[in-house]
Amino acid sequence: MSITVNYNNMMQHALGERGISDAELKAHEILAQSAHFQVEAGRGRGMQGWMDSPYDQSEVVKTIKSTASRIRKKFDSFVVLGIGGSALGPQAVFTALKHYYYNELPKKLRKGPRFYVVDNVDPDRMNALLDVIDVEKTVFNIITKSGATSETMSQYLIIIDILKSRLGDRAKEHIIATTSENKGNLIKLAQSEGFETFFIPGRVGGRFSELSPVGLLPAAVVGINISQLLKGARDMDRKCKSKYLAKNPALALATLQYISMKNGKNISVMMPYADSLKYIADWYAQLWAESLGKEVDKNGDVVNAGQTPVKALGVTDQHSQVQLYNEGPYDKVITFIEVANFRTDCTIPQGCEQFPDVNFLCGHTLSELMINELHATRYNLTRRGRANYTILLDAIDEYHIGGLLYLLQMQTAYEGAMLNINAYDQPGVEGGKDAAYALLGRNGYEDKMEEIRSAKPDVDKYIIE
Ligand code: PA5
Repeated sequence: MSITVNYNNMMQHALGERGISDAELKAHEILAQSAHFQVEAGRGRGMQGWMDSPYDQSEVVKTIKSTASRIRKKFDSFVVLGIGGSALGPQAVFTALKHYYYNELPKKLRKGPRFYVVDNVDPDRMNALLDVIDVEKTVFNIITKSGATSETMSQYLIIIDILKSRLGDRAKEHIIATTSENKGNLIKLAQSEGFETFFIPGRVGGRFSELSPVGLLPAAVVGINISQLLKGARDMDRKCKSKYLAKNPALALATLQYISMKNGKNISVMMPYADSLKYIADWYAQLWAESLGKEVDKNGDVVNAGQTPVKALGVTDQHSQVQLYNEGPYDKVITFIEVANFRTDCTIPQGCEQFPDVNFLCGHTLSELMINELHATRYNLTRRGRANYTILLDAIDEYHIGGLLYLLQMQTAYEGAMLNINAYDQPGVEGGKDAAYALLGRNGYEDKMEEIRSAKPDVDKYIIE
């Protein structure tokens, strides 16, 4: 495993008085070890079934591979319909590991179906999808653990209606349901309609489910080696068995973020320097925000915990957000993801000798430019006392992506334990869902509708036309 975590630039050693001192870090060792103990004690229990994902899936992996190989031979497109934890992982892993313009490649280079993730209910997007796919040559993977999410179930209803009108009884061959084995409506529909199904283990929550069938089936369909993804996760898990900060990278990062939060750094920026890792930042934003943003702790005390995640992309955001990171408030921790070896490279050709200010670029490769720009940005931020650390991936392949996802999941779990909050629920999401149900006339939500009706109406003086 070559995933290295370098946190020099979080420490006084690099940041001067704005950094964390060795003594401060040491003073948090007991808290870190207790978080480690809690997470290990919960392994495979409660909602920590995701910690078993790297180990206990050999049977389902076999089935996934055989389903994927059938789909790869027979279909032109594969569409994931889901939202939140049921969509961000498949999108992130696909973008990380496949050709950047995969869908535009000719079939003989793609070797599998085109791939789409539709994680919203924007009608224009749904209709646009229907413009570019042939539903009769498409498999739709409906992913919802609860089997009840309005957005996903609405997408399902639209698609099944189209499929049935075109294909009649053969519609079922175009749907795969990934859902809970015995909870929610999708499983009941799947059983009555005869859809192929994959199960999301009860102890694995949405945002921790990428290494379950939620992510493994879509990945296998586009030709990603899911055994290597799981192996990467397994090897990272091995590193996380240590309770020592110096050996366990996820525990070290969680502790540094914990200290930073206590010191007023309420924003966590993730900035990969690789386009293919752009959606890893999206996936992480959900993981970090939905897991740690909690009103009360496990004792019921109001804590309003959490750190706001921000997604950025190097080098692109050097020309936008980095100004703020350098000169704005000292309220951020920046996570850089650096890639040592890109899959391909481009050399900047010679031929501009007459303009020395351009010519210095000639002969370098784009990967050199990317990496040096990261080093330069990081140097400049550090010089200005801006907290940052780097996760260095040797390469962007299945093994390292599996390891990276698992590292970030472990970091989040430790962080939840240190904050003494439940990292696996999302009560803050429920209020909005209930209000939406009421507005759309769902039975049982009449009181909610009354409450909404009696809320203070907008007044004209605050509206500008
Ligand atoms: O992390 C979570 O639990 C959420 O983001 C869910 O994944 C999201 O709300 C979708 O839920 P479901 O898979 O039940 O449709």
